[in-house]
Amino acid sequence: MTENEMEKPAGLGGLIAKFVKELVQREFTQQLSEIKQDLLRANYMYHWPMDDAKESSAPIFESNVEVEGESIPLPPPICRAGYSPDDDRHYLEWGKYDHDMIMTLIERHHGIKEHMSILDWGCSSGRVLRHFIKEQEQFHWKLSGTDIQAFLVEWMRRYFPNDIQVMTGSTFPHLPFKDSSLDVIYGISVFTHTKYLWDFWLAELSRVLKPGGLCIQTVQCEFAWDFYHTNKELDWVKENHPTSMLEQPEMDTDFFFYGDAVVSQTFYKEEVIKKYWNRYMTVLELLPPPEKFSFQNWIVLKNS
Ligand SMILES: C[S@@+](CC[C@H](N)C(=O)[O-])C[C@H]1O[C@@H](n2cnc3c(N)ncnc32)[C@H](O)[C@@H]1O
Repeated sequence: MTENEMEKPAGLGGLIAKFVKELVQREFTQQLSEIKQDLLRANYMYHWPMDDAKESSAPIFESNVEVEGESIPLPPPICRAGYSPDDDRHYLEWGKYDHDMIMTLIERHHGIKEHMSILDWGCSSGRVLRHFIKEQEQFHWKLSGTDIQAFLVEWMRRYFPNDIQVMTGSTFPHLPFKDSSLDVIYGISVFTHTKYLWDFWLAELSRVLKPGGLCIQTVQCEFAWDFYHTNKELDWVKENHPTSMLEQPEMDTDFFFYGDAVVSQTFYKEEVIKKYWNRYMTVLELLPPPEKFSFQNWIVLKNS
């Protein structure tokens, strides 16, 4: 019997053998690729630093959403931190809008240069960061992200390209970067949930930014307060905000916070945030909320 004859499938038995062989090969290839991933990336213990977490086992994700023309799949709705969980187009459009806003601010206050290092602080599952792949390719930017919700970081570690560095962070003001090592840090709706140690966080962001580096953050001020008051009858507003706040037509404190973990909210008076934050970095501008998508102000600071 020749070698070729031995490999030839014979009847039903042969077909079953071929099927099993392919199945084993597929499983082997998958496992090999997972081992390669583990060797390529530092593997931190999986943990939940959030105070509302119920368990600490590694997550099992629902299916991703594939969208034509997108090189990275969209995260399943549960991994979108409330951003357009049921509308993929809207999710992409909103992320791109925020990306474009950040690019406008970088161009205006820093300049677009080759080899810049960018950190998305509070990156969730990369809603905004995914849109920076263009700049990564065009200008060789080094992209990274941190978030305190380990399951979101884990999702990114599995589905974002390997050369984008993502890490689980802490609520304690610390970032795993060397002094003066980053050009731009942006955080979309992160200080809006940072009810403690906001001043230490600003000092930490300043530490890791290069001199002249930009810090771009969104925050809630009088406009957001008014938004909630005006929409106090909406179910999601009622469910997530205390009545004492919703009944108050105007902010009557400099800084206000309530709630726990991801559902906590913070508000600063515009004049107060400019004065207080200026102690850590130079406040270049406090912009009104953009025309679309959000009622948060954008604040831009320059490190000295
Ligand atoms: C409202 S979500 C916004 C997510 C993302 N920036 C976006 O625009 O899609 C706020 C995110 O900030 C994260 N976060 C809150 N405090 C953080 C901290 N100290 N360090 C890193 N991430 C933080 C939360 O886990 C959450 O994913």
